[in-house]
Amino acid sequence: MNINNDIKAVLINKEELEKRILEISKQISSDYLDKNPVMICLLKGSISYFAHLCEHIYIPLEYEFLRASSYHGATSSGEVKLLHVPTISLKNRHVIIIEDIIDTGITLSAIKKVMMEMQPASIEITTLLDKPSRRQVNDIVPKYVGFTIPDEFVVGFGLDFNEKYRNLPYIGILKEEIYQK
Ligand code: IMP
Ligand code: MG
Repeated sequence: MNINNDIKAVLINKEELEKRILEISKQISSDYLDKNPVMICLLKGSISYFAHLCEHIYIPLEYEFLRASSYHGATSSGEVKLLHVPTISLKNRHVIIIEDIIDTGITLSAIKKVMMEMQPASIEITTLLDKPSRRQVNDIVPKYVGFTIPDEFVVGFGLDFNEKYRNLPYIGILKEEIYQK
């Protein structure tokens, strides 16, 4: 089976992704000059965005990985579990959270609250994709957004449906019959 056959349409191709991510890398490099930020990658979906973003940032930075889960299939349970917490101290550090997609914002809102307790100097969010029409919280305003997208279920470039499709090199709209099965 070829996973490309489950895609209804390509929403953002690899070239468009790389071009936009490079722009954000440059922006972060200049905004965080001399700030030695901690880049927090939210596993697993943000891994592709994180890797492409960081390879073009030219200032010193540190990596941290955090795992939270809130989604089961294509619908949010509204419940957020933190499965892994940062190993380095975030106190007085400039934190940048890297997210794959912000949908309701419930996941990030919960993660941000946990981070705030660690007393960082600042917290900003970058998300590759944003679905603002679906937002249910008002404390999540990403500083760097790759692409604002319509309310469609998308996969690829790290994003999954039931753990599949993360390895597609583009962002694609999944065929309805796949997630309605
Ligand atoms: P939120 O808490 O509703 O903002 O959910 C955010 C998380 O849900 C993301 O980090 C993704 O893991 C997942 N998610 C939301 N929309 C999509 C989608 O269209 N495709 C794949 N995963 C999604
Ligand atoms: Mg995610």
